[in-house]
Amino acid sequence: MKKIIGMAIAALAVVAIIMSGDIAHASTGGPPMGYNTWYQFDSGINETNVLQQAGELVSSGLAGDGYSTVTLDDGWQGTSSATRTSTQPLTWNPQSFPHGIPWLAAQLKSMGLNLGIYTAIGKNTCTDSGHLAGSYGHYAQDAATFASWGVTFVKVDSCKGLPAGTSDAQLTSDFSQFGGYITSRGMTYSEELPVLLPVGSAQYFAAIAASSQFANMWRVAPDENFTQSPSFTILGHLADDLPLHGYARPGHWNDLDMLVPGVPAAHPFDWSLSSEESQLSVWAQEASPLILSTNIGSLNAAELAALKNPDMIAIDQSGSQAPVSVSSGNILAVIKGADGGYSVLLANTGSFAQHASFTLPALHVKYTHARDLNVWTRSTGGLTGVSVTLSPGQTYLLVLTNG
Ligand code: GLA
Repeated sequence: MKKIIGMAIAALAVVAIIMSGDIAHASTGGPPMGYNTWYQFDSGINETNVLQQAGELVSSGLAGDGYSTVTLDDGWQGTSSATRTSTQPLTWNPQSFPHGIPWLAAQLKSMGLNLGIYTAIGKNTCTDSGHLAGSYGHYAQDAATFASWGVTFVKVDSCKGLPAGTSDAQLTSDFSQFGGYITSRGMTYSEELPVLLPVGSAQYFAAIAASSQFANMWRVAPDENFTQSPSFTILGHLADDLPLHGYARPGHWNDLDMLVPGVPAAHPFDWSLSSEESQLSVWAQEASPLILSTNIGSLNAAELAALKNPDMIAIDQSGSQAPVSVSSGNILAVIKGADGGYSVLLANTGSFAQHASFTLPALHVKYTHARDLNVWTRSTGGLTGVSVTLSPGQTYLLVLTNG
């Protein structure tokens, strides 16, 4: 009985969040939100450009909307993988970070932001021909170092530098051990174990099951690639993620990789506004972390408004990944919610325009009549079923409430 009441309260909380647009990630362990340097700078990061992006995060209002962790991706290190000794701590590149990482963490803190940092599970990291040191053999030491610098979020990559023949079981055990050192110091643990393995394979699912026990977020889809079409990336990641909803729960999230609005300098995605909104729709419905990686200062008003859309953020932070999906032809409908409120994502996964109609029961929505809100156009209405015509790759996101 107690459990049923608890579930009803949780369901009502989800509705309240969807309806009010409250940002709940801080209190409920919703998917992390923030900024990452990778797609804008690749490994060419320094304290000046990080602080500039941080300033724009604050002045644009994005930080106030929850995008408040600034992560230094690969390229900050000053320690060489070839010469790191068994006791040597990691340090920063003194040319790019002349004031040091603890100073940067303090600067960010004074701006109301947190510092995240990247490392790798192996002996070296993924970039710059592997000459930068990773954390292999140093998991406890590096977690202690990061905590002492004021880091609150650690991203651990899966690539490179593991002893030849390392088994999946050993790799998983290494990720678990490193995660224990990270989380026991109160830092959030983001990792990439699953994407080292073929997406959809038995090893991949085993890695996700393990990651969901010891990590706060784990990458389930490959890196975004600007040479591929937006819908290939967005709907491809959605397809990868649909079977994984059972692993997601407060404090533990499937990670679809970063948001790439605008035109990041080093990886020049150049998506239309509607593709950028599609990415946000899928990430929100799937409760993926919302981690922005672009040149924030170059985003236009419509792009900023999309990132700040309160319903999109509330859907992302509502406490669950969408558990239900149904199809009509090439139109896929993905649904989440509870008594009193649902979010519904529709997507055309095919190669030609298509019309589809779903009754509310077909969408697992328990109303005979619903009020609907289009999350992007803000138009509202009433309906007894959802009918759409979508072009290939197009998506549509709405919130349904009783009435
Ligand atoms: C991998 C990760 C990226 C980024 C780079 C850095 O490709 O998936 O997110 O961290 O490494 O080298």
